[in-house]
Amino acid sequence: MTNRTTTTSGAPVASDQHSQTVGADGVIPLTDHYLVEKLAQFNRERVPERVVHAKGGGAFGVFETTHDVSAYTRAAFLQPGATAETLARFSSVAGEQGSPDTWRDPRGFALKFYTSEGNYDLVGNNTPVFFIKDGIKFPDFIRSQKRLPGSGLRDHNMQWDFWTLQPESSHQVTWLMGDRGIPSSWRHMDGFGSHTYQWINAAGERFWVKYHFRTEQGHETLTQEQADRIAGEDADLHRRDLFEAIERGEHPSWQLSVQVMPYEEAKTYRFNPFDLTKVWPKADYPLIPVGRLTLNRNPENFFAQIEQATFAPSNFVPGIAASPDRMLQARIFSYADAHRYRVGTNHAQLPVNAPKTEAHAYSKEGAMTYSFPPADQPVYAPNSFGGPHADAAAHGPDRGWEMDGELIRTSATVHADDDDYGQARELITRVMDDAQRDRLVATIIGHVSGVTIPELRERVIQYWTSIEPTIGAHVAAGLPGIAEPRETLVPAPTAAK
Ligand code: HEM
Repeated sequence: MTNRTTTTSGAPVASDQHSQTVGADGVIPLTDHYLVEKLAQFNRERVPERVVHAKGGGAFGVFETTHDVSAYTRAAFLQPGATAETLARFSSVAGEQGSPDTWRDPRGFALKFYTSEGNYDLVGNNTPVFFIKDGIKFPDFIRSQKRLPGSGLRDHNMQWDFWTLQPESSHQVTWLMGDRGIPSSWRHMDGFGSHTYQWINAAGERFWVKYHFRTEQGHETLTQEQADRIAGEDADLHRRDLFEAIERGEHPSWQLSVQVMPYEEAKTYRFNPFDLTKVWPKADYPLIPVGRLTLNRNPENFFAQIEQATFAPSNFVPGIAASPDRMLQARIFSYADAHRYRVGTNHAQLPVNAPKTEAHAYSKEGAMTYSFPPADQPVYAPNSFGGPHADAAAHGPDRGWEMDGELIRTSATVHADDDDYGQARELITRVMDDAQRDRLVATIIGHVSGVTIPELRERVIQYWTSIEPTIGAHVAAGLPGIAEPRETLVPAPTAAK
């Protein structure tokens, strides 16, 4: 077969170099449909970037269940010895496509397990907690981390304004300002499911679980100075590091463990176990080993397999389900909706997103339909002609949880200890050592130096004082003066709880 250029319809083209013209200096006629095709296709090469987590990279690999957790879940790929092909995508959150990989930010840790019961997506981060605990705040939170509408610039005033008006952010902000705020590579960081999820075993017993992927490469982080330099020298450091390591045959791996809370204990636990701003102490719920994830294959085409990859927290498999976490509830809607917009109605038919099992959905047609059922299959359910039928037994005897109550809007829960600052304080006083605390203070001061409104700086100092008074005092003492104070704040902002 000759390797000749063709149109997208497969017909040979006459030239890759020269448009058709009327004579040597003449205009180009519309009959040069190949030129038109090239230009028009080029204009449509991009899909919208992800509204968050736009900059990233990923690879394929395998997950192997090395330990017996069948007492907790009936998921087929989590039975002893089972394996599942897996796609991982890592990302930063606020930066756009092309932004430096070393900006201080949480990192996405999104996994798609192609299991024998359909795709299971675990769309987590490299941190076990998050900035907010109710999804209704997510668009506001993200806008405060992105860019000003007028100048298009990022703005420390917006970031600290939002964080300090939302004390529930303190745990994640402390984590972010600490050493782990800038990993040296995606290979050298942990991953977390972050939310509390539900596992259901073969007998229908329910458990609450949190996922922890611990890197086998060891933890490595960058200082702010290193990160700033690399942002200029090699903005794609993390994407390059993963790709080149896999090309060299160095396959990064992570050990998966879970914390398991018996179903009934959630009702009386001392704080809300579905609050995404909190971790579960390991003294209460120790890590139980599950398996190992290894990434061993680079994408052949970044756009087709990574840019068009769609990970959705709503992709569950039997034996795994949601929890009452309000953030998770919002995400269950948000991602599949984003995918229909960003990639298209039939994004799930693309090879990277399609399950390795047969899909028998009654959803049909729409733009770019590629796969379709046999012509004699009924298009509605129920039917009397042998079409697919839903199977409650596939999900086991039970899933979900008990709910009752009036429709209300509140941050209150039935749990007693809903303190916003306690776990941030413990992170500083019990997890960090002196050197880490010194670097934390230096990082906060560096970051807050960009805050140009005096009242807002005062609020930032209050925020850190509420977290840990010594840190607050050091931050207050270390802040340089404001060269040109900006406008003052609108009077009396109150935290919207
Ligand atoms: C990406 C929404 C919270 C991790 C996204 C996307 C949306 C979104 C719309 C883009 C999806 C796409 O275009 O493919 C939300 C909402 C949240 C929320 C509404 C809160 C209610 C979180 C949390 C985590 C997280 C708590 C981690 C624990 C990710 C990751 C990606 C992502 C890793 C990138 C997935 C990929 O690599 O394609 N989020 N998000 N998000 N989000 Fe969230």
